[in-house]
Amino acid sequence: MNFADSKHRTFLIPLFMGVALAAVIAFVFRASDSVPTGSYPAPFDQREFSETSSSSIRLAPNRPMAKPTGDYIGSTGCSGCHAGEHRTWHASYHRTMTQVASTADRLFGDFNDVTVTNHAIGRSYRLANRDSQLLFFTGNHPQIPPSGAEEHAFQVVMTTGSHHMQAYWFATPQNQSLGLVPFVYLREDKRWVPRNAVFLTQPFDSDSFEFGRWNDTCIGCHTTPERYTKESANGFESRATEFGISCEACHGPGKRHVDYQQAIGNRSGTSPAIATGNDPIVNPKSISASKSSQICGSCHSISFSLKPGNSVIHSRFLPGEELSNHVHVARGTVDSARHQRAVLSSLSPEDIAADTQNRFWPDGHVRVSGREYNGLLETPCHQRGKLSCISCHTLHPSKQNQQALVEWADDQLRSGMRKDAACTQCHEAGKYADIKHTHHQSDSTGSECLNCHMPHTTYGLLKAIRSHTIDSPNALTSTQTGRPNACNLCHLDRSLSWTAEHLTDWFGQPRHQVGGDWNNVSAAVLWSLTGDAAQRALIAWHFNWEPARAISGTNWFAPYLAILAGDDYDAVRFMTTRSLRRLPEYAGLNFDFVGPAPDRKHVIEAIMKRWSQSKINRKKLPASVLIDSGGEIRDLEIKRLLEKRDLRPVGLLE
Ligand code: HEC
Ligand code: HEC
Ligand code: HEC
Ligand code: HEC
Ligand code: HEC
Ligand code: HEC
Ligand code: HEC
Ligand code: HEC
Repeated sequence: MNFADSKHRTFLIPLFMGVALAAVIAFVFRASDSVPTGSYPAPFDQREFSETSSSSIRLAPNRPMAKPTGDYIGSTGCSGCHAGEHRTWHASYHRTMTQVASTADRLFGDFNDVTVTNHAIGRSYRLANRDSQLLFFTGNHPQIPPSGAEEHAFQVVMTTGSHHMQAYWFATPQNQSLGLVPFVYLREDKRWVPRNAVFLTQPFDSDSFEFGRWNDTCIGCHTTPERYTKESANGFESRATEFGISCEACHGPGKRHVDYQQAIGNRSGTSPAIATGNDPIVNPKSISASKSSQICGSCHSISFSLKPGNSVIHSRFLPGEELSNHVHVARGTVDSARHQRAVLSSLSPEDIAADTQNRFWPDGHVRVSGREYNGLLETPCHQRGKLSCISCHTLHPSKQNQQALVEWADDQLRSGMRKDAACTQCHEAGKYADIKHTHHQSDSTGSECLNCHMPHTTYGLLKAIRSHTIDSPNALTSTQTGRPNACNLCHLDRSLSWTAEHLTDWFGQPRHQVGGDWNNVSAAVLWSLTGDAAQRALIAWHFNWEPARAISGTNWFAPYLAILAGDDYDAVRFMTTRSLRRLPEYAGLNFDFVGPAPDRKHVIEAIMKRWSQSKINRKKLPASVLIDSGGEIRDLEIKRLLEKRDLRPVGLLE
């Protein structure tokens, strides 16, 4: 049977075209305490500038400022005595998280007179480089007061991110207040995509410039304390010790440490003076696992202010202190929800419940990236043991060559920590790294601790990421919370009841009757057809995960990837594109996940055509993937399941 024929179109196309682009102004960038998008009240035309006059514009200082004050001295003040640590930090993405565009050494966007178009909205922008100034051009836009000019130019002054993607901020006539270019640049794919498309969010048709958002939100985690930001009638005043995340974010203010070290005789060999008191600098290695992790948690967490009206940005947390004295770290509990209701009184209880669902699985495991501290808090090894972020990560790897530093920077892990050593540093290898525990051959990916206990069930930055709540596979959890279990994320062709049976036989877990389609249809197939957008996203990503590809066989993926390529959610389509590219037969089909809808439909039809013509032997496929022994897709079954799809609007709050 051929998906491209008219019979199939009846369900493929409604699914595809049914992208009811609801005009929801979702605050996708909403992080921590929510603040509404700033409006743009000031008269615009006075300082508006055109392309021709752009070279004479000097708006560069009209942006937030980086300047150490008080006890802070900035990273250059440390490099003289700690060249090694400075070098490793310099290689990290922490350093280049926030950069001034004109001095950025990690600047990726293509500003070569390119026009970018958001096809969902039908609006285009232009990006150019004139006399070494990066410029952003927009035509008429709801957030810019009409002035008669056809195009408005703005100078791009700052960047956010440098690892997977980069976002760009332009100066506005408002004091230090930034606007966000509504496209981001994907580093690996080397292309611009609409900003809405990089979030797992219900399709919506706004491309707000997010005026003031940097100043009132992003500054809170993407700069080094001490931070100051204040809104006034004509904009903002915003300042941080340093852009990016530098030494003093993790070690505390350094001035008194330097004074102290100089007093007792520094490395330049001056005679030791008598120093009084203690060295105030904090070494995360020398404090408790809990306090050490809280330093990372000051940014890598979902947290709220302690009192209504306070701002997380202004929290005075210092490394070594108790984070909970400064912010409320969210948990998926009733108490935490109550706290959020109290401090976010502007949001309805329903909104808060929806936000919680968009951040946590129903059992309180955090489901979004960048919030690993919330995950650690629910982990028994941390609750009852000494597991901390730096059990697995290191911020300063020792004596590394440049190439090794580049590799380290990716996840900042200690060497070996992608493998069992992450666990066997505490849990006995003899007991657990053994077939008696894992029931897999010792060289099998199915025997690696992380693959069963830290599966990729969190989502962010257009990918699935390992959960930072260490947990064990359990079929019941999948039906109760909707979170896919580790076994079915690798064995994509197996049903949930298959997993349940083995968990009973191997680990003595209580027998669990999963019921319905879960008995005989592959769980991954079910999640991709009937699941909500977040479940579909995880499966779309796993179709590209090497261990899953190796054990599940890839010769039945194509029809499912065709269905996922028609998904309403941009991010699901993005991961589907990556998975498709890995199937040699389909790699040549140029599927642009944010291209015009008719083009995408065309490619989906081509995939199905190729599938129906392909010569691969499908007789060996398990019945669980709904492909008949003759190689035909059981389209009625698929249609029936698609009709059961969970259409809950999802907007994961990364
Ligand atoms: C004048 C030289 C000097 C400067 C400048 C300096 N340090 Fe140090 N620092 C030292 C010395 C000496 C030690 C003692 C341990 C050692 O030999 O490394 C030390 C130790 C440390 C430690 C380990 C403390 C411990 O208890 O284990 C940290 C962390 C540290 N410094 C961070 C910083 C940071 C961050 C800065 C910049 C804000 C900085 N240092 C600036 C000289 C300096
Ligand atoms: C609560 C802290 C917090 C806030 C507030 C926050 N971020 Fe982040 N952000 C993070 C963390 C942590 C990561 C790293 C996630 C990871 O690597 O998995 C991150 C990653 C990113 C990345 C990816 C960077 C890269 O190099 O690929 C971008 C882009 C980004 N944030 C943009 C923003 C913007 C824009 C804002 C403001 C609207 C913002 N963030 C607010 C904590 C935060
Ligand atoms: C994102 C957090 C972070 C940043 C940024 C950071 N460090 Fe560290 N630093 C750590 C942690 C964690 C340790 C403990 C050792 C480890 O895990 O690598 C550490 C250890 C140290 C030590 C002690 C080394 C030892 O042998 O005990 C020094 C000195 C130091 N850092 C200096 C610096 C300097 C200087 C900078 C900036 C140029 C810097 N750090 C930036 C987190 C950070
Ligand atoms: C001041 C805020 C802040 C602090 C403190 C902080 N981080 Fe980060 N961290 C970030 C942001 C923002 C990013 C995203 C950087 C990027 O990818 O551009 C990030 C990225 C990372 C990454 C992913 C690598 C990457 O660049 O994508 C790891 C791993 C990480 N941090 C671990 C830690 C650990 C461990 C600690 C504590 C020792 C820590 N961080 C402290 C804000 C912070
Ligand atoms: C038991 C080991 C372990 C602990 C503890 C741990 N991590 Fe990780 N972390 C990992 C591994 C392994 C990866 C790579 C994940 C992957 O490849 O998807 C990772 C990845 C990350 C990333 C990058 C995610 C991405 O792909 O963008 C960040 C950020 C991070 N960890 C932060 C933290 C923070 C903050 C803590 C403490 C709250 C922490 N981790 C504790 C093992 C650990
Ligand atoms: C720093 C030490 C440490 C590390 C590293 C560590 N754990 Fe643990 N883990 C513990 C401690 C302590 C406990 C609690 C034991 C107890 O209560 O008897 C624990 C408990 C557990 C439990 C049991 C949970 C329960 O409810 O009884 C599991 C499962 C587990 N760890 C798996 C892992 C895996 C998998 C890794 C690697 C990803 C890991 N641990 C890394 C220390 C650690
Ligand atoms: C990261 C991938 C991965 C994960 C996670 C994984 N497996 Fe496997 N599994 C494999 C591989 C590879 C093999 C074949 C080699 C072997 O026997 O180890 C296999 C073989 C098997 C087999 C025997 C062959 C078959 O298909 O009947 C069973 C049964 C099995 N796994 C069940 C499970 C269960 C149950 C879980 C969860 C507790 C699990 N696996 C988790 C990769 C994985
Ligand atoms: C094929 C999947 C799989 C792999 C691989 C695996 N585990 Fe487990 N592990 C489980 C399951 C399932 C349980 C839960 C048993 C239960 O429900 O009681 C478990 C339980 C545990 C526990 C809880 C205490 C106990 O004895 O039941 C610890 C600790 C643990 N594993 C550590 C490890 C370590 C360390 C590794 C790697 C060396 C590892 N596991 C590899 C599936 C796996």
